[in-house]
Amino acid sequence: MSQTLMEKVAALCKRRGFIYAGSEIYGGVANTYDYGPMGAELLRNIRNLWWNNFVHGRDDVVGLDASLISSHKIWDASGHTAGFSDAMVDCKNCKGRYRADHVIEDHFAKKGTEQNVEGLTPEEFKKIMVDEKIKCAKCGKIDWTDVRKFNLLFPVHLGIVEGDQSLAYLRGETAQGIFVNFKNVVDSTRVKLPFGIAQLGKSFRNEITLGNSIFRTIEFEQGEIEYFFDPDKTNWEEIFNGFKDSMWDFAVNKLGVNADNLRWRVHSDDERSFYSKRTEDLEYNYPFGGFKELWGLAYRTDYDLNQHIKHSGKDLSILDTQTNKKVVPHVIEPAVGINRLMLMTLCDAYTEEGERSFLKLKPSLAPYRAAVFPLLANKPELVEKAREIYKTLQKDFRVAWDDRGNIGKRYASQDEIGTPYCITIDFDTLEKDQKVTIRFRDSAAQERIAIDQIKDYLIQNT
Ligand code: GAP
Repeated sequence: MSQTLMEKVAALCKRRGFIYAGSEIYGGVANTYDYGPMGAELLRNIRNLWWNNFVHGRDDVVGLDASLISSHKIWDASGHTAGFSDAMVDCKNCKGRYRADHVIEDHFAKKGTEQNVEGLTPEEFKKIMVDEKIKCAKCGKIDWTDVRKFNLLFPVHLGIVEGDQSLAYLRGETAQGIFVNFKNVVDSTRVKLPFGIAQLGKSFRNEITLGNSIFRTIEFEQGEIEYFFDPDKTNWEEIFNGFKDSMWDFAVNKLGVNADNLRWRVHSDDERSFYSKRTEDLEYNYPFGGFKELWGLAYRTDYDLNQHIKHSGKDLSILDTQTNKKVVPHVIEPAVGINRLMLMTLCDAYTEEGERSFLKLKPSLAPYRAAVFPLLANKPELVEKAREIYKTLQKDFRVAWDDRGNIGKRYASQDEIGTPYCITIDFDTLEKDQKVTIRFRDSAAQERIAIDQIKDYLIQNT
């Protein structure tokens, strides 16, 4: 049942231009996706909403846009080159390749139990797979290779002369760009503790995934904030709980997701990184496999800044002018995947009512705020008036124009891309009342409103 929902969402995404498989006409590249005209708009709306909410909407957060390609020394210092790895296992029979932790977790989930796989060695993974007689999900055989660790970072070789190339990495998270620029931001702006630096942009991880659409991909967009504070002066739990509230509010009130599909999960001591004092995940009930990580919130202490102080030899402390004391701030980090927010939003918005399927997106998120139709495409006077209204609305909103097919078909295609309002110009508009018919996506009800009130109506109903 739930798998069927995912299939329906995936089919709609392809059919209506939200998400396509990457490099499709050449056979595809696994775990890459391209965003079509509707997907590009939805992604942009979510991205802008995140930035407006967490950067422009706060007095204590500034933005940053760091390079995607970065020195390998950054990733040595952060611990990613040594420890940022997953355990991989192959089926010798069908050549299927899996993450060992996912194989084991899925096996226990099917049995209705849970198994903690954090921190296991490759040998321990293999032992569980053998003891439990776990079968390959594709071919049903038990014929596994040994479990091997592989690093998730993508290396990049800079320079054109072989032998004279230097190693860099595509960033595996946006967070490190913030830590290495911490001093630059402090020295070039007027921020003072406590404050946050936010970044929105692509990250890259050589992931093996189970193909749940854009949930886990090798190239994805993150929205991260490193919130710096002096632990002697600021209560970390207040900051932590403040972010919990704003993350929940963002998902429920800004993205319009049903709160019953969200929950918090606290990381156990085994699962948490050794430097973290507390980590919690906001999880969403995705229609494949139930609750899964949407957004992480971690108290990372002063670990990252201290690592960069140690490896770079630079002083990244900040002077407290009141006490004249140098402080290496601690950080609390909310980190989310923008694509994962989009997948959640699409799954949650997908609605079926009788014959009708539609995306119940908040108007402020929908690819188009409204669609404008002339009742008949072959009546120049209707087309002219409709065009005039369309052009006027286009100054303030993203609006669709459609004069193809009958009105029913136009409604159906706008419903499926989540357009909340369809505006039809008919003969009464011209001859009688200077009003249009506005039809609402969710109720399919219709109303007449005056042309000069359309803009205000769309502004008020977001
Ligand atoms: N700086 C901390 C950090 O990167 P993470 O839990 O690895 O933490 C944060 O990633 C968020 O980024 C996740 O909660 C998820 O939303 C998103 N994310 C991580 N890996 C992803 C992937 N391969 N594809 C899509 N989103 C991903």
